[in-house]
Amino acid sequence: MNATQEKLKVQLEQAIVAAFGADFAGVDPILVSASNPKFGDYQANVALSLSKKKGLQPRAITGAIVEKLDVSEICEPPEIAGPGFINLKLKTAYLEAQLNDIQADPRLGVPAAKTPKREIVDFSSPNIAKEMHVGHLRSTIIGDSIARILEFQGHDVLRLNHVGDWGTQFGMLIAYLREVYPDALTTANALDIGDLVSFYRKAKQRFDTDAAFQETARQEVVRLQAGAEDTLHAWKLLCEQSRQEFQIIYELLDIKLTERGESFYNPLLFGVVEDLEKSGLLVENQGAKCVFLEGFTNREGEPLPLIVQKSDGGYNYATTDLASLRYRIQQDEAKRIIYVTDAGQGNHFAQFFQVARKAGWIPDDVELVHVPFGLVLGEDGKKFRTRSGDTVRLRDLLDEAVSRAYADLKTRLQEEERQETEEFINEVARVVGISAVKYADLSQNRTSNYIFSYDKMLDFKGNTAPYMLYAYARIQGISRKGDINFKELGNNAVLLEHETELALAKYLLQLDEVISSVEQDLLPNRLCEYLYELSKKFNQFYDRNQGVQVLEAQEPQRTSRLILCDLTARTLKLGLELLGIEVLERM
Ligand code: ARG
Repeated sequence: MNATQEKLKVQLEQAIVAAFGADFAGVDPILVSASNPKFGDYQANVALSLSKKKGLQPRAITGAIVEKLDVSEICEPPEIAGPGFINLKLKTAYLEAQLNDIQADPRLGVPAAKTPKREIVDFSSPNIAKEMHVGHLRSTIIGDSIARILEFQGHDVLRLNHVGDWGTQFGMLIAYLREVYPDALTTANALDIGDLVSFYRKAKQRFDTDAAFQETARQEVVRLQAGAEDTLHAWKLLCEQSRQEFQIIYELLDIKLTERGESFYNPLLFGVVEDLEKSGLLVENQGAKCVFLEGFTNREGEPLPLIVQKSDGGYNYATTDLASLRYRIQQDEAKRIIYVTDAGQGNHFAQFFQVARKAGWIPDDVELVHVPFGLVLGEDGKKFRTRSGDTVRLRDLLDEAVSRAYADLKTRLQEEERQETEEFINEVARVVGISAVKYADLSQNRTSNYIFSYDKMLDFKGNTAPYMLYAYARIQGISRKGDINFKELGNNAVLLEHETELALAKYLLQLDEVISSVEQDLLPNRLCEYLYELSKKFNQFYDRNQGVQVLEAQEPQRTSRLILCDLTARTLKLGLELLGIEVLERM
């Protein structure tokens, strides 16, 4: 609900009380956006439900409410329509005043959160010595956008990278490292293993085929747990290698994250199991310690356990998540913890959330949210892979998007007979390529799978990054052409006459509503849809046939229309920034 709707709602509530008495305080006036501009901008549909309570005709109800309703500052005189609807049409003068306000507001009319909260966004979170895959790419892009929106709203956001840097697989990796790089562990030099993923594969092969090696690997796990210096050193080398690779991706995508990997919580795992034991939740099941869950059953319909300590004494992913959850509540004082992972981990989150609740670890004012997302598919609708069937390296994926954007731009420049420097071309290609990948991901409802298509995401038509970037650059082009400084257009100059101006103006005023909905529901695609719709409204306004003249217009219309241009550009820029997308002044 936007600020205008809130005001109207309050007025309607007061009118209902004035008409029918204090018993009717708090009755929802059922205010909705009008389904058709014919009916104005908003519609209150309260009469139908009230008529039953009052035993009156709906029309009589609306009549009584309208008589007491004072919305003259905001709306034209209310109209009663149909069986008992109150139609409200915003006054042009009101819209003009609102736009004048947002023109002077760097936040474009979006109020910051009334009660800022400590929020944690747990996202990206790849695994050491393993590939950062498209699933992690989605988590990174979606998580970053959510964090940006919460930060913009004034929340105190902790962006956590819950890197998978602990576990028994390190025994095998360290044992293999000793075999192939015996010197690496005794010299202070940084190690360069090269391709860590193939290193992992070879280590695994060794582990799977050699019993003696398996034993060595197991001993390394014990040494790692006990904190043996040389083993720890090897572990750090491996982590450092991966970290460097992840960092390349984060830099390409402009992502800020605080790394706090699984290993961080290692000292707390014992306490988790101990406290579950104390609270009487722990059950031994075939040597493993577990908590039985409600609502989760196996194929035979028997309740499923969540294992928190394996029969060999080892802890697992869930134990770590329980420990990190407690830490985040107690030490970080988080009030909302948001986990961005693929939908496939839905049960994992539901399960350890349940155990933590049962154990009484979740205070009433703390909210736990799993933000799931679907799969990235290839154009054949199957798992996204390279032509040779391998998993796609993220670096290659991003490079490919940029080089395609580069080639497209070269062609366009040739067609337009434009000369640009190589520096300009590279910069535009970088921004377009990276934005295209991000926007293609964010513009989908995250819960569904989506098909990865370079052609689609780089298309200048449709709900794509290039379309949005182009709309922004086009507006900056107006300022260049008319030699206009958007910052110096003066205040209180908005004048709305033409239909397309009114439509654009009303849309510009909805940004607050969209952002607060994303803050709540954590669906960045709503913001994408809004920006797309805004660009379309702008294009109608600026259209030679349907729209109005801007630079060629007379004053006072000219300034007013330039303000609308500027407000559209600033809204696009802010919105794209919240999606993690840079704009280009020219492209
Ligand atoms: N490392 C995990 C993976 O690659 C994601 C971790 C998500 N965060 C968490 N707290 N479990 O699937």
